[in-house]
Amino acid sequence: MSKAPVLLAGFILGAFAVGGVSLVAMTQALTSERIAANERAATLRNVAAIIPTERMDNDPLQDMIRVSDPDLLGSESTRVFRIRSGGEPLALVLDPVVPDGYAGPIKLLVSVLVDGSLGGVRVIAHRETPGLGDKIETAKSDWVLGFAGKSLGNPPPEQWSVKRDGGAFDQFAGATITPRAVVRAVKNTLRFVERNSETLYGKPATPVKPPDQGDS
Ligand SMILES: Cc1cc2nc3c(=O)[nH]c(=O)nc-3n(C[C@H](O)[C@H](O)[C@H](O)COP(=O)(O)O)c2cc1C
Repeated sequence: MSKAPVLLAGFILGAFAVGGVSLVAMTQALTSERIAANERAATLRNVAAIIPTERMDNDPLQDMIRVSDPDLLGSESTRVFRIRSGGEPLALVLDPVVPDGYAGPIKLLVSVLVDGSLGGVRVIAHRETPGLGDKIETAKSDWVLGFAGKSLGNPPPEQWSVKRDGGAFDQFAGATITPRAVVRAVKNTLRFVERNSETLYGKPATPVKPPDQGDS
């Protein structure tokens, strides 16, 4: 029996396998590019809504540092954008991750004003369930807007949880896991900023003259 048909079949199968793998890889690359572009667009759209843009006179994209506190900020690396007016601190914008969303990590933007209160919170990426956990999006509900103006003293730290757990924040009907995780992550972000308040705004624009030591 001739081996030609077997070889031909093998060749065709091989070609399909290579083609299939390349198609999957290409689709994956395109999808992750699209997700990254969507996140960039969401960041730009949202950041202006949670910072005092009218007083800001620096470029926060240039005035950015990276910090690492996985316990409080949910990932190995978190960006901190500094918002200033005439060199004076106005606000910080961080991009922490909620590690324990119902359906996986939730990416946040959190603005903390220089007085320690929240300028606002926005969700820039999540996989929570439509109709349940997705009420964290401003497109679906006003829930996340309720963070603006809150601080570690308002409500007091023990009330930084959802009402079901005795706290001050609403949960969603039939979906407590998502809001509970977001409230905890925002509280942890405030704690991170409070603990590092001395260093997060970095060096002032002009070096501070050291106090005169005197010679005598
Ligand atoms: C298919 C499915 C999807 C769900 N999605 C979410 C979700 O995105 N966020 C959430 O908090 N709970 C979600 N839940 C509900 C949780 O399993 C859990 O029951 C709920 O968060 C607890 O809220 P409760 O204390 O108000 O019952 C989902 C449940 C099912 C069956």
